[in-house]
Amino acid sequence: NKGTDFPPVRLHNGGEYGYVGTHTVVELIEAGYIVVVMDNLANASMDSMRQVNEITGKQMPTFSMDMLDKDALRDLFKKHKILCVMHFAGLKTLGVSCNKPFLYYKTNIGGTISLLEVMKEFGVYNMIFSSSATVFGSPSYLPIDEKQPVEGCTNHYGNIKYFIEEIIKDICTAEKQWNVVLLRYFNPVGAHVSGKIGEDPQGVPNNLMPYVSQVAVGRLKELTVYGDDYDTPDGTGVRDYIYVVDLAQGHVAALKYLEKGCDCKMFNLGTGKSYCVIEMAKSIETASGKPVPYKIAGRCADDIVSRYADASLAEKELGWKANLDLAKMCEDLWCWQSNNPTGFSTES
Ligand code: WQD
Repeated sequence: NKGTDFPPVRLHNGGEYGYVGTHTVVELIEAGYIVVVMDNLANASMDSMRQVNEITGKQMPTFSMDMLDKDALRDLFKKHKILCVMHFAGLKTLGVSCNKPFLYYKTNIGGTISLLEVMKEFGVYNMIFSSSATVFGSPSYLPIDEKQPVEGCTNHYGNIKYFIEEIIKDICTAEKQWNVVLLRYFNPVGAHVSGKIGEDPQGVPNNLMPYVSQVAVGRLKELTVYGDDYDTPDGTGVRDYIYVVDLAQGHVAALKYLEKGCDCKMFNLGTGKSYCVIEMAKSIETASGKPVPYKIAGRCADDIVSRYADASLAEKELGWKANLDLAKMCEDLWCWQSNNPTGFSTES
């Protein structure tokens, strides 16, 4: 449907210079959409967008600005007719968010409200929001479906996503012209098959798979496994690792769903499969042929033992499901990491 079934549309992506955002821009362009990109570069580099341009052969209009800057937002909306906003923007580092609540609430929640207000000023009522399975906190049952209550959780990052979901739901209840899809990501991993884009967190990675791949490539010495005494197959934490390109294609499916009008809907984007920590480290060893030494440490406070999705609603309503298996995810992750041992270029 390269612009035939669906007219090319302009999408405004907040925060898509980052990991999931860049992969989603590639899939949107592949699907025939026209994309306008925006990011404040707090946790991303311009190089990631240059790589997207190389992969797609397209030069997107890009705006380096902050969603708290309403005048800059207005300038973007004046310049481009936006059909839908895909909102990825926000600070994410778990450990930091607890110590800097003002920064996190102002940026993530204040920024979202600023974005929604300017969207309304320009009559743009369609949004896809990058939410997270962390809103479920410690799951009350597994696999996790969309009916599971999300009363917020001890995890600060998950709480902010929960607050933003509730704000958006309230707006959609009060003003029926809004169409919003909240996508709850499980654990995105892997990289585009080209090896040109991938996950490149600033500083020492908080998340498992970028840490493991940086050990394999020799950038970090060894993996610390936080707890091996959980009630799981190998005693370590269990997660639903979803290939980032599958996740990105979930956004395209959500956009097509939203174009028919949808009020406010939530979907879990996961695979329904689950893997333990050491299993993931071994998968990268197999994919890379490199050792991933690790040591066992105590559990992290408030860490979730096991979290994986019932993704059947997204399959039924969006016609989307994750396809890639663990081995291929790790192969593509290694292709990115071995091609970019020190991550994206920092040249501006
Ligand atoms: C996975 C497992 C750790 C690092 C993420 C983030 C966020 C969100 C998904 C989208 C756990 C263990 C980790 C390490 C380890 N994404 N681990 N050593 O905990 O699900 O959090 O959820 O919103 O990315 O909130 O993922 O990758 O941090 O940890 O042993 O150095 O690996 O204890 O069991 P998590 P993670």
